[in-house]
Amino acid sequence: MGLAQQTEEAAGVTLPNVRDIVLVASGKGGVGKSTVTVNLAAALRNRGLKVGVVDADVYGPSLGLMLGTVDQFLVPAEGGKVVPFMTHGIHSMSIANTTPAESPIVWKGSLVAQGLLQLFVDVAWPDLDVLLVDMPPGTGDVHLTLLEQLDVSGAIVVTTPQRLAVADAERGIAMFHELNIPVFGLIENMDGYLCPCCGERMELFPGGAAKTLAKMKHVTHLGSLPLDSDGQACADGGVPLIDKKPEGEVAKAFASLGESLVKALARERSAAASRVGHEEEDAAFWNELLGD
Ligand SMILES: Nc1ncnc2c1ncn2[C@@H]1O[C@H](COP(=O)(O)OP(=O)(O)O)[C@@H](O)[C@H]1O
Ligand SMILES: [Mg+2]
Repeated sequence: MGLAQQTEEAAGVTLPNVRDIVLVASGKGGVGKSTVTVNLAAALRNRGLKVGVVDADVYGPSLGLMLGTVDQFLVPAEGGKVVPFMTHGIHSMSIANTTPAESPIVWKGSLVAQGLLQLFVDVAWPDLDVLLVDMPPGTGDVHLTLLEQLDVSGAIVVTTPQRLAVADAERGIAMFHELNIPVFGLIENMDGYLCPCCGERMELFPGGAAKTLAKMKHVTHLGSLPLDSDGQACADGGVPLIDKKPEGEVAKAFASLGESLVKALARERSAAASRVGHEEEDAAFWNELLGD
């Protein structure tokens, strides 16, 4: 069965307070999805947007630690919902906050879907401009569930410069393309290392593969982020790196990524608005073009 058929049911869940849902995805784990989610959220907050994040990485939830909410307790809200956490001006909810830290999160496929959707539906989200979703690596059940049930505006794919990571990012982009989910762009993380002494940028891995992939898949190469020696301490200490070093190179890169995302969302909205009422013409055009 094709991917499109597997998600052909209409989006089932509406989040009336949330304008745009953007997935932060990758092929490989450890490439920096959670780092990008947290710092992009902070960069959007710096632009005056109201931002939320959901940690949907059932296999390795990190946002509780990275946003400093691991020791906080969920507070009930009206209608059986819970109030999302709020740290650093960012609203958040993580799968980790719903299970004790020492317990493994072992869920069968159907329970994954149910548990994940609760992070969206059973939370009293305030009005949000953007809700970023930190996805698990790869292209699996979680992706299909969220794309089937939520009205997702688009996705950002994170990779590192290594060809192994880029090859897996290609699968991620292909999945979104097959499911007609706009890919706002590719972010290349760990592209070089910033010397903690002099700030000079040193090459770590041979580059070029991510830019080639972006070109080949017709997605925007949104930008490159260097490795910053403070990244780890910030993540473990629950502080976005760009808040700790607002004048640093990483903060500048995230400011530009935030601007690109806001522009991409605006373009997508106006494209969607111009398509309203033309769905049949659009379908006929594409069918003719694709020879269906
Ligand atoms: N640009 C960066 N500079 C410094 N450390 C980084 C950077 N990107 C990621 N890291 C660190 O690398 C590790 C993996 O990143 P993470 O965001 O958790 O990846 P993922 O969510 O894709 O598994 C984390 O410890 C994080 O702090
Ligand atoms: Mg992560």
